[in-house]
Amino acid sequence: MRVAVVGSGAMGSLFGGLLAADGADVTLIDVREPHVDVLDREGVTIESPEGEVRTIPVAATTDPEEAGAVDLALVFVKAVHTREAVEDAAPILREATVVTLQNGLGNPEEIATVVDEGAVVAGVTAHGSTLLGPGRVRHAGRGPTTVGSYFSEDDGRAELVADRLTSAGVETDVSPEIEREIWEKVAVNVGINAATALARVENGRLDGTEPGRRLLEAAVEECVAVAAAEGHELRGPAHAREVARATATNRSSMRQDVEAGRPTEIERLNGEIVRRAERHGLEVPVNRTLADLVRLAETE
Ligand code: PAF
Repeated sequence: MRVAVVGSGAMGSLFGGLLAADGADVTLIDVREPHVDVLDREGVTIESPEGEVRTIPVAATTDPEEAGAVDLALVFVKAVHTREAVEDAAPILREATVVTLQNGLGNPEEIATVVDEGAVVAGVTAHGSTLLGPGRVRHAGRGPTTVGSYFSEDDGRAELVADRLTSAGVETDVSPEIEREIWEKVAVNVGINAATALARVENGRLDGTEPGRRLLEAAVEECVAVAAAEGHELRGPAHAREVARATATNRSSMRQDVEAGRPTEIERLNGEIVRRAERHGLEVPVNRTLADLVRLAETE
């Protein structure tokens, strides 16, 4: 199977490397030249959660067209870059199933502006990964991965994706309610990411302190109300608190972005909650404030 990973940072390199180790013909695509050079020359080096280190040969390029036509594409760019990255990769995606496991709302819709809706498989993953340096990632933690056909009844594509990922060691289920699963993950990110990025604290502080709990709960309650207005019933703050406890020592992805001076995913998370709330006539003052503060921090 020919696979392209569009956006081969920490998560893309991990998933691409695992698929290559399982026998797929993988090309990792990324804009960072030093990273791509090492990947193409030496392969991707993965440190497992148990501390084992292995290097897996892959092809890597900054030019999507070099990958040639693929059967499967995994989109792992930051959500702000989805449309542009998929547009650049369009020539190699004509026959591909295109999978997004990215954070936030709106990624499948962005991808479907470029490829057929039927080709889009969306999902969520609890695997964690950190980019250690060019060509090298740490597989920070394993967890469930769920995929599903986003726009239409599954024609077998989601099953196929789940089989390939599971065979590569990423245990994956298929859900008939993938949009709700994405909302559940969004609610967790809305509760944890902006607050940890702004206060520069580890995730656990949001469950372990009173102001942390207040912020997390208020942001998630607002998100639950917006999801309900769109027909999705979510589990609510208790679940986000559970995740904050389970990932207590993590630096959230948004905190890492803010600290590194990179653009964040705020527009796909709290920012998107604000936009959707407006459409439904709902007030979401906590998400509005968190989104504005992160936007401000991004301009530093
Ligand atoms: O974006 C993140 O950092 C993660 O999704 C999560 C679950 C908040 C853990 O850090």
